[in-house]
Amino acid sequence: MDTPVINLSARDLEKVYEPSEDSFLLIDALEADLKVLKAAKPVMCLEIGSGSGVVIAALAMALSDHCQSYHLAIDIDRDACKVTRGTAMLNSVDVDVVQMDLLGCIRNNCVFDIVVFNPPYVVTSDEEILDAKFLFKTWAGGTNGRKVMERVFSRIPTILSDTGTFYLLVIKENDPEYILRIFKDLNMVGEIVMERKIRGEHLYILRFKKIK
Ligand SMILES: C[S@@+](CC[C@H](N)C(=O)[O-])C[C@H]1O[C@@H](n2cnc3c(N)ncnc32)[C@H](O)[C@@H]1O
Repeated sequence: MDTPVINLSARDLEKVYEPSEDSFLLIDALEADLKVLKAAKPVMCLEIGSGSGVVIAALAMALSDHCQSYHLAIDIDRDACKVTRGTAMLNSVDVDVVQMDLLGCIRNNCVFDIVVFNPPYVVTSDEEILDAKFLFKTWAGGTNGRKVMERVFSRIPTILSDTGTFYLLVIKENDPEYILRIFKDLNMVGEIVMERKIRGEHLYILRFKKIK
């Protein structure tokens, strides 16, 4: 997969998450599955918390020569939405961008074939999630670092197509095995498909599918 061109100004970097090892691990996981993902001819693709837009742009670029898929990016932050839009344009791909709190305005009958989420995952106090200050909402994950991501878990089976795939980036402190068990209770099968240790963080990519 080609890495999208990103153009973040110094002002953007004060407000928007700069693509980092976690962003690139998620892209690597998509790249590893690309053949299978393409074969499934995805129609609807979604990124929750798109930040700079590097992940959704990479996915849209990789799928553009193969299928006519629709790409939607959601971020709670207005500046992130603006930057995601700019990244898509810079890389000549169509991505619709909506400022939204997680899946708040997505109806249950709106189904996606690929959903990706690199959530705020750092263990912090719960108050820090709500802190409007500089970049906090990009990484503050509250207790166990799961406070934000957990809010979408029960919605995933309702917005994923029967053959769809959900990719979630987590760290060791989020307890990946516990998350796999939560999804099992939601009738979804999950596994760790990639992991990387980097500067004191142990990153994992979890991949989920519906149990048929
Ligand atoms: C760790 S960053 C990942 C950014 C980008 N996807 C990447 O991989 O580089 C998490 C992103 O989630 C967004 N976010 C945090 N809380 C959110 C919420 N409640 N609803 C939507 N987006 C949210 C942040 O603004 C941030 O852009």
